[in-house]
Amino acid sequence: MPEAPLTRHDAGVSDIDSLYQPTHDEYARQRLIGVMRNHAFHKLRDDVCTEYETKVAPALKAAGKPVPDDGHGIDRVMQQNDLYRFYSTIRYNSQEMMYQSVLNPIERVAPDMNAVGQEIAARHNARGTLKIAQGFELPRYVTAMDVHLAPGCFHSEYTTNDLVQGAMLAQGSRVGVGGMAHRRETGAVGQSIAHWLAAKYPDFKPRRILDIGTQSGKNLIPYGEIYPQAELYGIDVAAPCLRFGHVKAEQEGVAVHFSQQNAEALDFADGYFDLVVSSFFFHEVPVPSTRRILRECYRVLSTGGIMTHMELPPSKLASPILDFMWDWDTKNNNEPSYAAFRAMDPTVLCVEAGFTADAMIETTVPNWSSYTPEQNAKFYRGEAQVPRHGRGGWFIFGARKMIAPT
Ligand SMILES: C[S@@+](CC[C@H](N)C(=O)[O-])C[C@H]1O[C@@H](n2cnc3c(N)ncnc32)[C@H](O)[C@@H]1O
Repeated sequence: MPEAPLTRHDAGVSDIDSLYQPTHDEYARQRLIGVMRNHAFHKLRDDVCTEYETKVAPALKAAGKPVPDDGHGIDRVMQQNDLYRFYSTIRYNSQEMMYQSVLNPIERVAPDMNAVGQEIAARHNARGTLKIAQGFELPRYVTAMDVHLAPGCFHSEYTTNDLVQGAMLAQGSRVGVGGMAHRRETGAVGQSIAHWLAAKYPDFKPRRILDIGTQSGKNLIPYGEIYPQAELYGIDVAAPCLRFGHVKAEQEGVAVHFSQQNAEALDFADGYFDLVVSSFFFHEVPVPSTRRILRECYRVLSTGGIMTHMELPPSKLASPILDFMWDWDTKNNNEPSYAAFRAMDPTVLCVEAGFTADAMIETTVPNWSSYTPEQNAKFYRGEAQVPRHGRGGWFIFGARKMIAPT
């Protein structure tokens, strides 16, 4: 009898990323897209700012017209500007191309991926867990559109135990930052904040850490390096991302407890966590949901516990031109809550949720990457007073839960 051909399933694959390696031409395309995005995010973005400051605003002034003093006003003026339109075109198309460029390699192995993923997780056995809820109701703000132009968004499932969407988002973002050497490929944000927390609060030793909107846990896993004694929990509404995250964490040897939950109504007991974090999360959530989620963060934090959320800096801290540039995604990237979230004051939101104003944390955390702070600084166009977003640092807001006054 002829032997059955060896499948990937039999081959003892130990790293899920090795399944969807691109061909030479696919890799060349991915690199090109990474470089194109880097060009748009840095050189073109700076050129648009300079164009506004040195040409558009002076021309308005010379014509006796009002010069806008906020991002919305600049938006109205710049919509017809050729350089801005070119920048927008490159950003929009490279965002779509970023996901397209990883779909072929992933689809080639998609039929095997779920089973192989389960095997990888079982073989490594880092003792993390995965809980997918039965009959889970996804929020409308996730299902209504392909958020940040990702085909199928975070949550779409095509087969049983599907994790393809998680792989696509992880690989897409890897391509996206591929041309941006100053950002570490994975987990730069979690790594930066974990190091910052350890330096700022040397006596703080969280026993349990929760990451909300964790997706596949890439910005949660670095907390395990800094706080090896802590239990790590990641929640998200998107089952494929959680399944993929479970495989990745197990293969990296980090025990993470992933569960499918809506951050607006967590199933954890009051005071269960000492540290609650998130990254790139709140700008995707409508403001009423943000309020509910922050109340949940307050509830599940222990007294003395810390909450830090990495986000786009709020409008109140941005120069008008940066405010305009940072809101690009609202209209162009299927992230309709972006500008509304940035218009809110983090202190007001946190105080509404139960935190005290004097316990607020609002700062820029230096990017912990392969670059030194001096090298990071060169990505910055001299906006010393403006908090950073990805260029040498990450803006965070949050608070420490203080002992209630008696
Ligand atoms: C842009 S991703 C951020 C992923 C990750 N935190 C990171 O740093 O890369 C936002 C994530 O939030 C999840 N999400 C959106 N609304 C949610 C909610 N109400 N509760 C839990 N997760 C949610 C989405 O499924 C998605 O995975």
